[in-house]
Amino acid sequence: MTSKPQIGLLGLGTMGAALALNIAEKGFPIAVWNRTTAVTQKFHAQAGELADRIVPNETLEELVAAMQPPRSIILMVPAGAPVDAQLDALAPLLGPDDLVVDAGNANFHDTRRRSLAKRTFRFMGIGVSGGEEGARHGPAIMAGGTPEDWVRMAPVLQAIAARAEDGTPCAANMGPDGAGHFVKAVHNGIEYADMQMIAETYGVMRDGLGLNAAEIGACFARWNAGVLRSYLVEISAKVAQASDPVAGGPLLDMIVDAAGQKGTGRWTAIEALQLAAPIPVIEAAVCARNVSARRAERAAGEALFGPAPQALTAPLPLSDLEDALTAGKILCYAQGFAMMTAAGREFDWALDMPAIARVWRAGCIIRSDMLNDMAAALAEDPTRNLMLAPFFAEHLNRCLPALRKVVALGALQGLALPALSAGLAWFDMMRTARGTANMIQGQRDFFGLHGFERLDGVDRPHGPWAQV
Ligand code: 6PG
Repeated sequence: MTSKPQIGLLGLGTMGAALALNIAEKGFPIAVWNRTTAVTQKFHAQAGELADRIVPNETLEELVAAMQPPRSIILMVPAGAPVDAQLDALAPLLGPDDLVVDAGNANFHDTRRRSLAKRTFRFMGIGVSGGEEGARHGPAIMAGGTPEDWVRMAPVLQAIAARAEDGTPCAANMGPDGAGHFVKAVHNGIEYADMQMIAETYGVMRDGLGLNAAEIGACFARWNAGVLRSYLVEISAKVAQASDPVAGGPLLDMIVDAAGQKGTGRWTAIEALQLAAPIPVIEAAVCARNVSARRAERAAGEALFGPAPQALTAPLPLSDLEDALTAGKILCYAQGFAMMTAAGREFDWALDMPAIARVWRAGCIIRSDMLNDMAAALAEDPTRNLMLAPFFAEHLNRCLPALRKVVALGALQGLALPALSAGLAWFDMMRTARGTANMIQGQRDFFGLHGFERLDGVDRPHGPWAQV
């Protein structure tokens, strides 16, 4: 070790350990600490040739003393109260030039609160995506800090981040205070939606077309060579093709159909409702996870109403299913980017939409080829809804008939397609100049004299309800 580290990391769980090794591997000496000293010692002992760039510490005092000011200390502790507890514990030890960087999956409101709080040291929150593999070898990083703090952290964060095919590091500053964790939440909302729509196409293949897991896996693998090329489609192929080490046969068929969640997708849906920014595909995906968890009720429903017929009554080429998923994906991202535009206005963040699409191109869970086209379309006009961008409008025109067909066939046969259906309904609302909310306005005025606007602009605030 030639010099004292300026980088520290607290919390050597799976993600923290992987991130610390990644940082050391990129040439940065790093001081580490974990609540349980045995974990710190084991981590150091197993760090191999990186061990001499890692300084293990038993106490926070020791860690701070082992570092060279100005210090940058990355927190990798569970989101919520543990972060506040760590900040409190660090407060008496740090000075005004020291920076604490929360790299966990914090709720952006907490990050905002922590950033805006008066404290004796600096603070920023960064969203890190890519799971353990990403943390170790290249995550996507959505930072949220002042330009000054970003400049300080950028050399490390860009060195450890994934690189897009053009070589650009997938790490950027999204804006101040909660901006980074907000963009990470939207990433996770989209992650839920991408996963749900893939699961829905799996259901159509399994129940509607009677394909087995291996055939479904082969189909996802084919899709992964086309316009849908993405990490989630790639791993879905692998999940479908895996065999069960216990009982033989496809593993997928043995997995309980109840999805877990840690809550980040839910935060996105809650925030979208607060912002009045419609993201129905993501909302449907969160809702579908909640429904999936209610296994006993679903079983009671099936016992009472009988299983749905399911097998499709009309031929459905797999290419139509691929087009339906493509359309659903475009619509979902259009909603997600529009939500970020709304949040940028609400929280006074200059969110850079093309930069967000570029950061998501590699390292993160939702990485996909299509994000290149999204970055290009957003660069033309960052606030235009993505579904109106000529490139995506053309795609949608091509894929929409297939989405309609899939949703309609699913509805007829009782195949639940909540996210794909939500995408289609949103599209149809978004391409209808004269909608049906005039009826709602009439109803509101009828029972509450809420008033309405007239198409001809004539000023007559209420309807003649007493006379009808
Ligand atoms: C990522 C992921 C990650 C998330 C898991 C599990 O970007 O690396 O979003 O942060 O924690 O995907 O999330 P759920 O438990 O909510 O499915």
